[in-house]
Amino acid sequence: MKLYYASASPFVRKVMVLAIETGVVDGIELATVTLTPTTPAADLCADNPVGKIPTLVCDDGSALYDSRVICEYLDGLHGGTPMFPENGEARWRALRRQALSDGIMDAAVNARYETFLRPETLRWTDWVDGQMGKVRRGLDVLEGESLGETVDIGTIAVACALGYMDFRYPDEGWRDSRPGLAAWFEVFSARPSMSGTVPSGVVSPR
Ligand code: BEZ
Repeated sequence: MKLYYASASPFVRKVMVLAIETGVVDGIELATVTLTPTTPAADLCADNPVGKIPTLVCDDGSALYDSRVICEYLDGLHGGTPMFPENGEARWRALRRQALSDGIMDAAVNARYETFLRPETLRWTDWVDGQMGKVRRGLDVLEGESLGETVDIGTIAVACALGYMDFRYPDEGWRDSRPGLAAWFEVFSARPSMSGTVPSGVVSPR
């Protein structure tokens, strides 16, 4: 399998963390791409017309996207504990946490593009404020969650959202008013799947 990859993308990181946690990572070859919404990568667009990462090309040549679909596909390739709980309350809790964390990551990436990619004269601060409002409200809800020791697609997504905050918004101080989330993240970050996927910082939307 080939994964279109950039270490800076929190959505790529989510796929990589799940692949490491489930032991399927050795079957994945990484194809590093540098792209922005205004400079798509031609080879990636041939496999995914909307040109987004992560995109996974399976061994039969078919492509899968987005990160949610890829994670669920990879979760079907191993015989261990499923990262997508099969049913009941645990499933809906994990999927909701993934949706919330993906929303936080979307908003944080959008604000990053607006700040670093868009020409200065065209920047719209109200829009950035709106995106950061989504991020902050989402983090406040996560502070109220009992994340505990669960390792599933929900907590993996939460950790990747927090990792992106540290990477691109180190001055945001998200921990200041969210001590429970901060303590949980400190423990979860020590997992090899997390420490082995820390963004390198070389890929930038510029
Ligand atoms: C970033 O550099 O922040 C980034 C790169 C790729 C996808 C999303 C974010």
